[in-house]
Amino acid sequence: MSSSPYRLLGVSGSLRTEAFSTAILETLSEAVVPKAITTIADIGSLPHYNQDLDGASAPDVVVDFKTQVMNADGLVIVSSEFNHGVPGILKNAIDWASRPGFRSPLKGKPILIITSSVAFTGGVRAQYQLREAFASTLSRVTLTPEVVIGAVHEKIVAGALADRAAIDYALVAYEALFNEIDLQKHAVKALVGAH
Ligand SMILES: Cc1cc2nc3c(=O)[nH]c(=O)nc-3n(C[C@H](O)[C@H](O)[C@H](O)COP(=O)(O)O)c2cc1C
Repeated sequence: MSSSPYRLLGVSGSLRTEAFSTAILETLSEAVVPKAITTIADIGSLPHYNQDLDGASAPDVVVDFKTQVMNADGLVIVSSEFNHGVPGILKNAIDWASRPGFRSPLKGKPILIITSSVAFTGGVRAQYQLREAFASTLSRVTLTPEVVIGAVHEKIVAGALADRAAIDYALVAYEALFNEIDLQKHAVKALVGAH
């Protein structure tokens, strides 16, 4: 285990003021303090992805977001499902963070994915699209059973996730994320030590 807190970047897939996704992210972020400190990214300020804007002349908000991704030990993505897939706002953020291809700040980044939905299915289809998208960025999606929260509207109370079983299940997945981060840090240390 790391001696200083894990630095996590939280990304909510919803811009809605009272988004269930954001409420889940905030509840879990509080639950893992002091073991981990979470900064929540503002993906709503990112422009639509446009390759003409990418590269050396990228807008400041894009540079800031990519720096946040780079500096984080791991990412926690909490998203709903739109039309059986990833909400466009979230896919847009992934596309920005994914460049340059195979060398982006997402490469090797430990990632925990959590989805939710008002439906029984808990956004599981969006979860699988997210796993596909992150596979293309060579990030390391945490090996843990999928965290999907169905009937989410019944589990958010006063802007917080209030379902004990869902919280506990998600926190087990956080432990898997921390293990992944530790594994990576040890591997880097071993590599540096070998040279
Ligand atoms: C455009 C749109 C498409 C949606 N499509 C789906 C869907 O395919 N599957 C699903 O389970 N829920 C769907 N929903 C319902 C969302 O899961 C629900 O609104 C969710 O709680 C929104 O997440 P948020 O509170 O984080 O914004 C859709 C909602 C919207 C607005």
